Parts: sequence; C-alpha cells; structure tokens
Amino acid sequence: MSKQEVILCQGLEDNLTQAVGKCPHDKLFILTDAHTHRLCLPTLQGVHALREAEEICIGAEDIHKNIETLAQVWQTLSERGATRHSLLINLGGGMVTDLGGFAAATFKRGITYINIPTTLLAMVDASVGGKTGINFNGLKNEIGVFAPAACVLIETDFLRTLDAHNFFSGYAEMLKHGLISTPGHLNELLAFDTDRPDYEHLKQLVGQSVQVKENIVEQDPKEQGIRKALNLGHTVGHAFESLALAEHRPVLHGYAVAWGLVCELYLSHLQVGFPQEHLRQIVQFVREHYGCFDFDCQRYEQLYELMKHDKKNTGGIINFTLLKDVGDIRLNQTADKSMIFEAFDFYRECMGA
Ligand code: GLY
Repeated sequence: MSKQEVILCQGLEDNLTQAVGKCPHDKLFILTDAHTHRLCLPTLQGVHALREAEEICIGAEDIHKNIETLAQVWQTLSERGATRHSLLINLGGGMVTDLGGFAAATFKRGITYINIPTTLLAMVDASVGGKTGINFNGLKNEIGVFAPAACVLIETDFLRTLDAHNFFSGYAEMLKHGLISTPGHLNELLAFDTDRPDYEHLKQLVGQSVQVKENIVEQDPKEQGIRKALNLGHTVGHAFESLALAEHRPVLHGYAVAWGLVCELYLSHLQVGFPQEHLRQIVQFVREHYGCFDFDCQRYEQLYELMKHDKKNTGGIINFTLLKDVGDIRLNQTADKSMIFEAFDFYRECMGA
C-alpha cells in the first residue's frame, strides 16, 4: 500500500490546485453530500483546476453509507464517462470519504482519489490511513478495502462552522491519539479551551493528532499489529454505539468512543496498572464534555454479546488494546466477563448513569 500525502493546508485553493496537478487525469469528479454541497463546495468555486469537475451529490449522514448509495456513485461515474484515468475528490465527513474512497478503489479496479475532510472526525481519523467502506447487513463498515487516497488535504477553517456535537465527536479520537502517544500531547488536549477554541492552536493540535495516526499507519497499514493501538476505546465504544442504535437513540461515533475510553482505561488499570491519576483526568473530561450514556445492569449481557461480535476479535475472544501508561500500549489483551461487567459498574458509578 503506497503512502498517502497528508497536507495541513495553508490555503486550500493552492494546495488543491497542486494536488490535482500531481494526479494526471482525463476527467475530474467531486463527491459531496447534501451538507457539503451547500456549505463547503462554494468555498472551492474559485479553484481553476476544478472548473470542469462534475459533481456527484449523495444523501448526508450514516444512513446513506450503504450499497445503494455506492451503486449510485458507480452508476454516475459510468454514465458520465469516467475511465481508469479519472480522478475523484471526496469533500465531506467520514461517511463521504469512506464511501467515496471505496467507490474509487473499486471503479474499474481502482481510480485515484483525493480526500478533503470537512469534519474534525474525518480530519484526524476517517480520511487518513486508507480504510474505506460501507455499512452492510446492519453492520458498520462491514464491506471495504484498504486503499489510501493519493492525498488528504486538511483545511481546519471548515471547523469554524462545525457544530459542537461533531466537534466533540472528533475530539474523542484526538484524546485517543493523546493517550497512545505522549503525556505532553494528552495534557495539551485536556487543557485546550474547547468552549472558546483558539483555531490556530486547534490547527496545530490537529496536525499533531494526524501525525500520531500517520506514524502508526505507516508502520502497519493493514492492522496486523501496532495499528490496533488505534482501536483503544472502540471495543466498548462500538458496543455502546450499536446498543444506542438498536434502542433508537443513536449517538455520534466519537461520543461512544469517549465513553468506551472510560471503560477501557478502567480495564487497563485493572489488568496492566494504568495509573489512577490519568484515569481520573479522563473520566472528568469525558463526564464534563460528553455527558453520560445511560444504561442499567439489565443491558450488560447485550453489550457483552455485541462486543463478542466485533470484527476485531479472533475465535470469539474479545480483543482489547489497553494501556499500561500514556503511550505504553498493550495490544491483543483480553478480559473476562466479570471484569468487563466491573468496568460497566465503574462507568455507571463515576459517570452518574
Ligand atoms: N480508525 C482506526 C483506524 O483507522 O485504524
């Protein structure tokens, strides 16, 4: 898998012009969703390189991350004469970059694509690292391939108009990157004034966060080893996300990850001695900024079953990434049912569920 170029933009128009120039193509397509068509595409109107780009606009939000939308993108590319040498630009959040990346990776066995993430979650996580795909059969990201973008252009000015929920959803992945990297980076994230963001400082933090992910993906693009570090908080987080969906009270991915971090850092404390002081700091931050996902002990079995079906497991054994300390990663850990239930008890007690 070739390495993708990730650029923290100083001016999106110039960076995009250069990126398009580096990708020879016969036809150019730009994939948007209903939100980015309205809010983000107009900011690219002056880009000369895009003057002949054809737009493909799909429905917004995760409910459209499915085979029907994917077929619609393939169909449009085909009808409008896209060839093996065409270029696709994905302008949007993780749903657009995941689905657009998969459409590009599979159309005529693969065309080149560029990601322009417009949400914090997509900037620091979804658009970087080459994971593409769609939801299928009720399962998130069930179908997909590893296929890196030629280039990811991160324009943090889009964050100035991002709503608070989507901001915090992305910030949870940044916290995760802080936890798996260094105490210095983590402390900077915990101290950042999220209520009145200094956007220049945020840009710098986003750059550091992306760097954490890139370093890991470069070592292990296909998640055979160290890339599993990026799953911290996600084993429990995905179970919360699925339970919330089943109970018709969906939550944003990053919120589920933040709550998952609380449980998995508690497990880290029990299993490998993650320091109590760091656990306390994270609990406080998550409680203050993410509120609490409410569930009672009647739901423990269901959450456990959901965790057993996570695609990261092998042989039905629940796989966790745990931390001995900030930046001290322990891969391929497991925990027995009673410990996992104890982590749920801890979560409910300290988060006020
Ligand atoms: N979102 C985790 C990864 O890209 O591996």
